[in-house]
Amino acid sequence: MKALVITSLAGPEALAIQDVPDPTVKAGQSLVRVSAGGLNFADFMTSKGGYPGTPPPPLIAGREFAGVEEQTGRRVMGYTQWAAFAEKTAAYRNLQWPVPERWSFEQAAAFPVNFFTAYLGYWQAGMTQPPLPGRSHRVLIHAVAGGVGTAAVQVGRLLGIEMYGTSSSDEKLARVKELGLQHGINYKGNDYEEVVKNLTHGEGVDAVFEMLGGEHTAKSLRCLRDFGRVIQYGTATGKAPQIDVRALYAKSASVQGLWLTYLSQKAEIMEPAWKRLSEWIGQGKLIPQIGHVLPLDRAIEAYKLLEGGKNYGKVVVKIAQ
Ligand SMILES: NC(=O)c1ccc[n+]([C@@H]2O[C@H](COP(=O)([O-])OP(=O)(O)OC[C@H]3O[C@@H](n4cnc5c(N)ncnc54)[C@H](OP(=O)(O)O)[C@@H]3O)[C@@H](O)[C@H]2O)c1
Repeated sequence: MKALVITSLAGPEALAIQDVPDPTVKAGQSLVRVSAGGLNFADFMTSKGGYPGTPPPPLIAGREFAGVEEQTGRRVMGYTQWAAFAEKTAAYRNLQWPVPERWSFEQAAAFPVNFFTAYLGYWQAGMTQPPLPGRSHRVLIHAVAGGVGTAAVQVGRLLGIEMYGTSSSDEKLARVKELGLQHGINYKGNDYEEVVKNLTHGEGVDAVFEMLGGEHTAKSLRCLRDFGRVIQYGTATGKAPQIDVRALYAKSASVQGLWLTYLSQKAEIMEPAWKRLSEWIGQGKLIPQIGHVLPLDRAIEAYKLLEGGKNYGKVVVKIAQ
């Protein structure tokens, strides 16, 4: 079968389409004929050797997919750690979900990582339950126009959350506003800390979805209101998050990590999340935002969109017709 192989950890240029043997199906897995793959920032990091737990190359790239389960003919979308960007993948059944009736394979491939991460971010921030009477929840979402960001806006809207979101582009922010983002902040011309402070009358937000790292962790902490939480789930700047634990005292604040790779192993967390997400899908209230669909032979270009922060929403790689 054809697969997108990480030939060395030298970044997107070291990706190559190769003929490889069909995957071996392990206990608990099923074989899926893949139609489309969802590209994640983690895939770009993996290609450079910057993702924890990456096995030595050569290895097949890709962590989420949509296609047809060979044995049952069911349309499925799934989450895995590697080997999704291939004509066939062997994936654990507990991390496969039925493709909603009205969705294309491209839409389905754009769902698992973004929507589970976004939902679990709200869950970790204590926002999947209604706020105390007379108070609304506020969140600041970094990279609001990206894959996780556009999912977080859709979920946040359903949870009744007041959302602030950052992006480098007014054009991208305008698109996310159509999804329900109330306060778009272009960080190229504005200091998001100042904007949040002004718009919330000095109070701050209850949670920040922080995936930049470096100084942004400390800055995001300063955007919090009392008892607020920074949900740290990435380091797109490539820099280690800066944090002075003493800064947490002032507002009884906290910084909490979120890693889907780890949480996805826990059925007691994933099942209630899917129950809530699938109810919303059934009501037509969640639509994965796809900015770009590229064929597998243009995968390098797809990776570079994420590397350069040029994407809107999800980048999808088309694997079969
Ligand atoms: N912990 C987890 O389980 C988990 C799960 C999913 C994703 N993540 C993390 O969440 C983040 C978003 O992932 P995603 O796949 O949804 O990607 P994405 O948000 O679709 O793409 C990245 C976006 O980040 C913004 N950005 C800001 N600084 C950047 C930089 N230095 N380099 C590149 N982009 C930058 C860009 O948007 P603007 O130009 O608009 O700012 C870019 O479009 C990543 O850090 C990823 O590793 C973590």
